[in-house]
Amino acid sequence: MVLVTGANGQLGRRIVQHLIARSPAPMAGKLAVSVRDPGKAADLAARGVEVRHGNFDHPETLASAFAGVERLVLVSTDGPREQRIVQQRNAVSAAARAGVQHVYYTSFLDVAADSPSEFAAIHRDTEAALADSGLAYTLLRLPLYAEGLAMIGGLALEGGVLYLPAGNGAVSLVSRDDLAQAAAAAALAPRLDKQVYELSGQVAADYASIAARIARVSGRPLVYKAVQETDYVTAVVEHGLPDWQARALGTLFVAVAEGRMAATGNDFAALVGHPPKSLDCLIHEHFATRSKA
Ligand SMILES: NC(=O)c1ccc[n+]([C@@H]2O[C@H](COP(=O)([O-])OP(=O)(O)OC[C@H]3O[C@@H](n4cnc5c(N)ncnc54)[C@H](OP(=O)(O)O)[C@@H]3O)[C@@H](O)[C@H]2O)c1
Repeated sequence: MVLVTGANGQLGRRIVQHLIARSPAPMAGKLAVSVRDPGKAADLAARGVEVRHGNFDHPETLASAFAGVERLVLVSTDGPREQRIVQQRNAVSAAARAGVQHVYYTSFLDVAADSPSEFAAIHRDTEAALADSGLAYTLLRLPLYAEGLAMIGGLALEGGVLYLPAGNGAVSLVSRDDLAQAAAAAALAPRLDKQVYELSGQVAADYASIAARIARVSGRPLVYKAVQETDYVTAVVEHGLPDWQARALGTLFVAVAEGRMAATGNDFAALVGHPPKSLDCLIHEHFATRSKA
């Protein structure tokens, strides 16, 4: 049986949908999910997916959530750094105790020990927990979601300037749905050739180039302006983001400025059989309809 955690979240739900699409019916006994609120997964239950309750904040829920699972797709949680580290360690320990055969963990492109990024620290810790656990595992290192650009780019278009503390650093962007497709492919693969898959796109671009492409596609002016991390954090807190999230994003963009989110490669295609949607395609999808009437 394959079990996906976080199946009420945006990535986890898409992973389940791709697993359903790739698996011959019936689903019973083959596919399960672990979620904090099973009521929100009633649509999956109706399709034959076994819906279990599991909350990484409550390790006592995880023995039954992970019982009988052969392949566990472990979707990373959200929230402040220390909380996430504990949650994800709880999940790894529970998987080991439950005798899970293989874990597929949605990690992050940047896990370097010298990275300023809080996200790197979280994922590095979970990768270390997996290495110490005795479990067999595969690391699916995710780049930035293209949907994040849709959000920040959409806001930036209002004022014509995209302000980020990302210097001249380049990013590789992939859509959540493509990443979910790759995770599903990994979880169903009879065998995998590698332990670490970097699910980046095939090109990386800096934000000046991305802003210029958005401007071209939307027909509205947009330029990129690199700002200081502290000014960015203050601005996004004023915009309503919680302190912890603003700080974490600030450190992420400093890591981008250092070139830590720019990896490109063919690991995605090795799992899925074709490359993810290109940057130009993603920008067209998200911004072609944002031209001023
Ligand atoms: N690469 C990127 O650009 C990027 C951007 C944002 C986030 N992320 C990471 O990718 C993950 C998935 O992204 P997403 O878009 O699906 O985020 P999302 O829609 O906000 O979903 C958050 C996920 O965290 C899970 N979660 C939170 N607290 C939990 C707990 N105590 N126990 C078990 N699960 C818990 C949720 O599980 P339920 O299903 O039970 O609600 C849900 O699946 C995020 O959680 C974050 O770690 C990556």
